[in-house]
Amino acid sequence: MVGAFSIAIQLLSMFMVVSGIRDSKYHQTKVLKESPECSSKNFDVTMSELSTLSLLDCSRFCSSTEDCRRFMFEKETKLCSIFESGKNCITDGEVNGKVCFRLKSVCDDVNCIRCPVGYYGDQCQHIIQDCTDGITKSVVPLKRLMAFIQSSSSTVVVEVKCDFIYGGWLVISNRETTCLELDFNKTWKEYSTRIGDPRGNYWLGLEHLHQILRNPNRYALEVIIVYETTNQARATYLGLNISDASDNYRITIDSYVPHGTIPSGDSLTNGIYSIHGRPFSTYDRDFSNNNCPVRFNSGWWYLDDPVCSRANINGRRYNVSVPFESTWHWLDDLGPRTDISMFILRIKKE
Ligand SMILES: *[C@@H]1O[C@H](CO)[C@@H](O)[C@H](O)[C@H]1NC(C)=O
Ligand SMILES: *[C@@H]1O[C@H](CO)[C@@H](O)[C@H](O)[C@H]1NC(C)=O
Ligand SMILES: *[C@@H]1O[C@H](CO)[C@@H](O)[C@H](O)[C@H]1NC(C)=O
Repeated sequence: MVGAFSIAIQLLSMFMVVSGIRDSKYHQTKVLKESPECSSKNFDVTMSELSTLSLLDCSRFCSSTEDCRRFMFEKETKLCSIFESGKNCITDGEVNGKVCFRLKSVCDDVNCIRCPVGYYGDQCQHIIQDCTDGITKSVVPLKRLMAFIQSSSSTVVVEVKCDFIYGGWLVISNRETTCLELDFNKTWKEYSTRIGDPRGNYWLGLEHLHQILRNPNRYALEVIIVYETTNQARATYLGLNISDASDNYRITIDSYVPHGTIPSGDSLTNGIYSIHGRPFSTYDRDFSNNNCPVRFNSGWWYLDDPVCSRANINGRRYNVSVPFESTWHWLDDLGPRTDISMFILRIKKE
């Protein structure tokens, strides 16, 4: 199968000489889910669909469409869907007669004219270090997209959700009531790697977070809270850092800066309830001495105090039949609201 596709790609290369494209390369990836996990479609919609003759035609359609970075081909119907970002086509494998491919490069005689988002250079040989880096180097589309990054201190390339449109924010956690519920009562190992899917309920993972922050640049953290359907509140923190696994991913935060127009109040570094300097806790590795991960149904940098935390971002949705403390909240200054519909945590170089 893989062999057959390389032949197809060579044929494709010959054909593409006509339109100036000498060579296109794709990786096969996996079809993640049939239906979208979230009902809000603000991220990665299908660019276009076409009935094609073959897989080759489908790849050709993507190669010749500006901004196309992935395509999905349905073997039986020969329906070809092309995407700008990561929809349905994120990791390896094949599902239900559908195959997905991710762009590696589209090149003309001299240079590569399209690379995966995050890669850049004549031969797509460089990669951005974080979402802010993409903006500084002007090598990314100014949109909200999945992008590849590699921190200078790490050997691992990771695909993350970047809000390039707002200056290069990297989304490290996303919770939405329009997405299928996902329980964030997870183990140390799960919080260390990754939870969920960047298109829906999602946690980037402490190890990636540590690697991204592990450089001399200062980073800001922004918390976005949506409540009462459309009201927003925000908090900004400066000087965020996360230590390594051997130090239990301890969090440090220099300061809280109230948001100019829609301040939420400070539930992370508020006086004696500040989580500054706290290690991460999960139910199977708890530094809170107060059973906080079980009480709050989530992992977090809990205090060594019966209060646990003034915020529960990884908790569950409000539900009258479970204790309030185990559900989403941000007490300063929102109080014990039961109508929070979205939490986003994102980081950016200061
Ligand atoms: C969290 O998960 C653990 C392990 O599956 C389980 O023992 C515990 O009861 C769960 N906590 C809650 C509040 O569901
Ligand atoms: C953040 O911590 C890392 C060690 O994990 C350190 O190398 C880096 O300099 C720190 N960043 C800042 C801005 O102090
Ligand atoms: C509320 O929680 C209870 C107990 O965990 C559960 O059975 C029920 O399905 C939940 N209700 C909603 C609307 O999620």
